[in-house]
Amino acid sequence: MANIILIGFMGAGKTTVGEILANELGYSFYDVDTFIEKTAGRSIKDMFTMAGESWFRDQETMTLSGLCDGDNRVIATGGGIVERDENFDIMHNAGTVIYLHGTIDKLWTRVAKDPQRPLATDLATFRARFDARKKKYEDWADIIVEAGASRVETIVEKIKEAL
Ligand code: S3P
Repeated sequence: MANIILIGFMGAGKTTVGEILANELGYSFYDVDTFIEKTAGRSIKDMFTMAGESWFRDQETMTLSGLCDGDNRVIATGGGIVERDENFDIMHNAGTVIYLHGTIDKLWTRVAKDPQRPLATDLATFRARFDARKKKYEDWADIIVEAGASRVETIVEKIKEAL
């Protein structure tokens, strides 16, 4: 228990914020995407191409579950963690869920056409995916933090205050 789990769309800064937050709290930091890549020995992009999104989502749930089985951790999830309903209980049984919210324009400028992000290929699809998930991010969050325009240090401070 007493873990902090960061959720939010691609480009919200979950990894960057998570690393600093963990450091300041003296927690360990884990990134679900990085963990999957290390375990599979492949990039996320390759996993999507070779095995498909559904296979990736299975790995994501398994990895989340493993990482949530610990204490005093900050865990950065991938933007699609809300795609599988079972991930809700896994996260909420493990700690506090924080949604890093940003506007679609800001998020897009951060990840636009990143070749390593298979789901960030064009703005219209990116926006549609965000709209489809928006309510889930909000509903799944214990705390919502505005992470669009602020500096990373400011976002970390906001999270610490909210906790
Ligand atoms: C995804 C987000 C990515 C990564 C994968 C799928 C998504 O993580 O898990 O490309 O479905 O939103 P980031 O949110 O860290 O970019």
